[in-house]
Amino acid sequence: MDPIRNPFAPGAGSQPPELAGREDIIRAADTALRRVLQGRPAQSEMLLGLRGVGKTVLLNKIEQLAEDYGYLTSFIEAPEDRNLVELLYPRVHQVLRQLSLVEAARAATYRAMRALRGFAAVFKVSVGDFDVSVDPEPGVADSGNLEFDVTDLFLKVGEAARAAGRGWVLLIDEVQYLSPDELGALIVAIHRTNQKALPVLLFGAGLPAIAALSGDAKSYAERLFVFPKVDALSDVDAADAIRQPIEDEGEAINRDALERIVALTQGYPYYLQEWGYQAWNVSDGSPITASCLDAAGAAALRRLDEGFFKVRIDRLTPKEKEYVIAMARLGGGPYRSADVADMLGEKLTTLGPRRAQIIAKGMIYSPAHGDIAFTVPMFDEYLRRHWIRD
Ligand SMILES: Nc1ncnc2c1ncn2[C@@H]1O[C@H](COP(=O)(O)OP(=O)(O)OP(=O)(O)O)[C@@H](O)[C@H]1O
Ligand SMILES: [Mg+2]
Repeated sequence: MDPIRNPFAPGAGSQPPELAGREDIIRAADTALRRVLQGRPAQSEMLLGLRGVGKTVLLNKIEQLAEDYGYLTSFIEAPEDRNLVELLYPRVHQVLRQLSLVEAARAATYRAMRALRGFAAVFKVSVGDFDVSVDPEPGVADSGNLEFDVTDLFLKVGEAARAAGRGWVLLIDEVQYLSPDELGALIVAIHRTNQKALPVLLFGAGLPAIAALSGDAKSYAERLFVFPKVDALSDVDAADAIRQPIEDEGEAINRDALERIVALTQGYPYYLQEWGYQAWNVSDGSPITASCLDAAGAAALRRLDEGFFKVRIDRLTPKEKEYVIAMARLGGGPYRSADVADMLGEKLTTLGPRRAQIIAKGMIYSPAHGDIAFTVPMFDEYLRRHWIRD
């Protein structure tokens, strides 16, 4: 059918035509946003899930909701190789610039700017285009202890936001790349702003195993956040994710084809978009039937293999590749690390550092002690398609 009208949206962070099966997560975010506007404490969300399940899309959706409610928002994608302070600085700067335009918030914003100045100095942030032309206030956000200083800074930003009659929502994607100290500092800071009923909220998203928290941060996190699992869609929701966009375009898909797409993709959002996209293009007309699915499936897999899957494997060193290939040889996972070691004919302890490296790259995670699994759904099948010849 006409590719120009194709409604599907395969791609990292691409807004899907139908955001299926995430009502509870969106409702919880909505509640938190509205409570905070009324000066009530609220639980934020930390969305945890595998690659391609729709975490970024949800964060975008929450950001949109927040903006609709009049919040200022800052969206950060945590990269592997940069510090939190460097990422925070320009965002906070931008928020304060906006708040400074509000007459009633001038004084509070000025104090927050001074805190930001001290913060930048103590952590040696290269301020670039975002220099602050105020003097720091000694003793505020300048101790060099990340937890204290992020807390000071967030309190000052929260006070400025409150003075302006606005709120601030910080959204952080790829939370697994934050260090335990960084994540801990954020959580303690949000705990304090929450206690003071300041209009500040944090929403995060990341792979299932985020940094192990310790001390106060750990106990606060359990109360401050809900940790909804973002997973494959149920069969009903997965079918909606395909059928609804097609019907919205005035076309149809028959039940057989729908069931097969749901089964082939196992309900994983990224794969649903890819299969839906190809099925639409390959089909001669409406309704889309199962007869086009062989061709559509081949095209979908080709695109995934050359994109979604390939960019992941390309980030591994040859030794790391050997490790994940050994995993895939064992079947669908999760895998016992000891079995992977056996498969490679090596000692478990020798492989420890390699396994840790692959975890740090976000390619695998440990769902339970001694176990290991891929963060990309169906990655084992990809490896067997392209990297394993028996
Ligand atoms: N609820 C949903 N229903 C249908 N499609 C969805 C849904 N959520 C996400 N998608 C689609 O899935 C794909 C992946 O979404 P997204 O990039 O948000 O995933 P992610 O969890 O952030 O992945 P990664 O961990 O790789 O960053 C996109 O093409 C998006 O349109
Ligand atoms: Mg994402």
